[in-house]
Amino acid sequence: MSVEDLRFLTEEAESSLKSLHTPEALEAFRVAYLGRKGKVTLLFEKLKALPPEERKSFGQELNLFKNKIEEGLKAKLESVDAPSKTGEENFDPTLPGLRPSRGAIHPITQTIREISGIFERLGFEVADGPEMETEFYNFTALNIPPDHPSRDGFATFYVKSGTDKDSYLLRSQTSTVQIRVMQKRKPPLRMISPGRVYRPDQVDASHSFMFHQIEGLMVDEETTFSELKGILQFAFRQLFGPDTKTRFRPHFFPFTEPSAEFDVSCFLCQAKGCSVCSGKGWLELGGAGSVDPAVFEQVGYDPKRIQGFAFGLGVERIAMLRHGIPDIRLFFEGDLRFLRQF
Ligand code: DAH
Repeated sequence: MSVEDLRFLTEEAESSLKSLHTPEALEAFRVAYLGRKGKVTLLFEKLKALPPEERKSFGQELNLFKNKIEEGLKAKLESVDAPSKTGEENFDPTLPGLRPSRGAIHPITQTIREISGIFERLGFEVADGPEMETEFYNFTALNIPPDHPSRDGFATFYVKSGTDKDSYLLRSQTSTVQIRVMQKRKPPLRMISPGRVYRPDQVDASHSFMFHQIEGLMVDEETTFSELKGILQFAFRQLFGPDTKTRFRPHFFPFTEPSAEFDVSCFLCQAKGCSVCSGKGWLELGGAGSVDPAVFEQVGYDPKRIQGFAFGLGVERIAMLRHGIPDIRLFFEGDLRFLRQF
């Protein structure tokens, strides 16, 4: 065995050390080189038998060999996750932390917050109202008397039947909050009210027995239909882009007179007609109108002195249009693959 051979052996040991990654393999390596019958130990025995003139240079090289193996092994042991190490010894403060799994805001809540933000900038405050209401708030105060046919489609989800002010049902519209706010406050006022509503609708891709609306109400000594249109137009341009057009179509709601349904120009095809707007070029978003004097009388406002307008928007529809969501049920099924996209 020459000094040359020893250098070759050192290289070989170093390269085989590189390929070892488990504590077991490193232990086997240690035994093979540094153990009682290991290569290094045996070479030291050979050293004794060498003639004195060779012993010095061979001895130096052998010590180098031994040091390299010991150091290489030590470094390697530190880099593998040795099971003998536990607790604090194993704690590496330089590793990136574990990312806590965080929840996210539901797309419906995101849409409500965004729309609320737009109206807040226009001076509207956000009001809340109960989801369980009396027939008075859900119908009568909104100019829908007990025998009115427009109750039929909504009079459901009763929690308690009874008289007008003593019956409870899940509200079918957020218009109830108009009444609650006006009963408590004097004009002028501007408010919006987002929340859940419930209807006896057969569930399909665009209907659900529960969905969200945003109600709006502005009351003052003088309000105009063009203000109503301007406000809605501003909101929809913020939501759908600066080229969005808004149009009103005559309609009937018991609590507004005159009433209208409003559409926005399809933001995908710029009103040319596509699959999102079913070829119509327009997207229906909700209803609006001038507050009916009968509603003001219910809350003790003088309809000769006070005017107002109101509107109601469907939140799911807006969220579906903006994100290209084809089925309303996706919002409520709780499938994380869907929800994680927002
Ligand atoms: N409450 C109506 C609905 O659920 C929407 C609506 C229409 C609200 C006209 C209004 C309004 O405030 O003025 O279909």
